[in-house]
Formats: sequence, structure tokens, C-alpha cells
Amino acid sequence: MAGTRVDATPAPGSGPARHRPLGVVTRGTTNPNRLRRVDNWIVETCGEALRDAADPLVVDLGYGASPVTAVELRARLAAAVRPDVRVVGLEIDPVRVAAAQPSADPPRLTFARGGFELAGLRPALVRAFNVLRQYDEREVAEAWRTMTAALAPGGLLVEGTCDELGRLAGWLLIDADGPRTLTLAAKLSTLDTPAELAERLPKALIHRNVPGEPIHDLIRALDDAWHAAAGYAPFGPRQRWLRAVSAVRDAGWPILHGPRRWRHGELTLPWPSPTP
Ligand SMILES: C[S@@+](CC[C@H](N)C(=O)[O-])C[C@H]1O[C@@H](n2cnc3c(N)ncnc32)[C@H](O)[C@@H]1O
Repeated sequence: MAGTRVDATPAPGSGPARHRPLGVVTRGTTNPNRLRRVDNWIVETCGEALRDAADPLVVDLGYGASPVTAVELRARLAAAVRPDVRVVGLEIDPVRVAAAQPSADPPRLTFARGGFELAGLRPALVRAFNVLRQYDEREVAEAWRTMTAALAPGGLLVEGTCDELGRLAGWLLIDADGPRTLTLAAKLSTLDTPAELAERLPKALIHRNVPGEPIHDLIRALDDAWHAAAGYAPFGPRQRWLRAVSAVRDAGWPILHGPRRWRHGELTLPWPSPTP
């Protein structure tokens, strides 16, 4: 694992002493708009749960060297889901917590030190993006368990990975029972072939992209369908993607949500998936 194991003693000012931040400090790479795809999907797919939540509290776990994606998440949720949403950016690196304070806008947006235990908060939703990627695959299940145990009843965790500019992404929707769905998403205007999505799978799947594994079969099916849909290329990559996703669904993959979401360059399906 990359990074520095966090000491059992919380740093002064790091929050209630009983909450030892669980995890390690890792690279803080981030970028404005990097998480736009997953945020839009969260608005659409988790919006209802957030609207129904008694306390509309959202945690952005591991926001990185700059709080920009937490600021964006708060703005998107407030505009599209409910104006009283509160976002808490949690970071395990106290230097990054201090650096984020000028961007705080309490109570709507605050920043604090915390790890997978979520610093004693009980959020309705957690977005943890590009955090587990730098951990060992064997640590993933425990990190999921720790985060989902801290959620409010019915709470949701969105955990995934993307490239530096957010053009390729993969994420899982997870609740207290484990993963529910997998989403792959790409900026279609820069996508050469869906096989590229394999580079940005969530940590739990990235090492499973080998023959015989469902994720390998799925990416292969999508890639084959994309190539078979080459005749749609003159109509633009969106039409080609829509055609490819329809073909994957027709082959028996239980693709969810329909063309209204697919047109964003997305594909979501139950995960673990009943393979065709
Ligand atoms: C690559 S940055 C991701 C920034 C942002 N989420 C994004 O996707 O652009 C990963 C950040 O996660 C933080 N991190 C790693 N493990 C963590 C944990 N267990 N709890 C909180 N933050 C953590 C690291 O310190 C680092 O700043």
C-alpha cells in the first residue's frame, strides 16, 4: 500500500478523540470538474434517497489536495436535490484539512479530519472517489464495511475511480448489504474504445479484469458491441454508444436506466451481475 499509516492518536483539533481516523494518507491529486459524471449520476440515482433523508448529510471522503470537488458536490446537490443539503469533506491528512478551511461555508459545507470511520458522522450518502485506488485490494472489503456501518439507516456509499480529468470512470453503489450496482462512464467525444474503461475500474474489480471473470466478459461485450456499431460513427459517438449499450443489453446483460442515462456515456447494471 502507498502512503503513511495514520497513528492511533488523533491530532489536536482533529475532532472527537474517540474517532481515530482509519486509513492512510495518499496522493492528493484532484481537478475541477473531475467528478462531474459521478455527481450527475448521484443526483439522478441517489437524489430520492437524499430527499427522503431525515438529515441531508453527505460526506465527501478523501477530497484531496484541494477541496474543489467537495465544493462542486455541495453546489450540484443543493441545486438539483435539496437546498438544505450539508456536505462535510473528510480528509485523513490534517494539512489538507487546514488548506480547505478558506473554502468552508458552514453549515452548508465544512471540512474536518476523518477516515473510513467517518469521524462519528451518520451521513445519508458518502462519495469516496479515487481513495481506495491507492490501497491494497485486500483492504477494500473492510473499508466498505467500516464506511457502510457508519451510514444513517438506508444510507448509500458511492465508491469509485476515474482518470485525472474524469473522462473515464467506474464506480459501485454500496449499501449495508454490499455492492448493488456497477457504473462505467466515459466522455464519449474522447473515447477510442470501451476497453479503455478497464484502466479506471473500482479497486475491487481492477485486478479481476481477466478471462473468466464477469467484469472481463462485460468489458469485452461492450468493446465488441462498440466495434460492431462502427457504422454509427458518422452519426457521432453518442449514437454509437447507444447502439453498443442496446446490443449488450440484448445479449442478456441486465443494463439499467435506459437511453436517457446511456446517452451520457454511462452504463449501469446490478453488481455482482447475473452474467448472460
Ligand atoms: C487522489 S485523492 C482524491 C481526491 C478527490 N476525491 C478526487 O477524486 O479528485 C485521495 C485522497 O484521499 C485521502 N485519503 C486516503 N485514505 C483516506 C481515508 N481512509 N480517509 C480519508 N481520506 C483518505 C488522501 O489523503 C488523498 O488526499
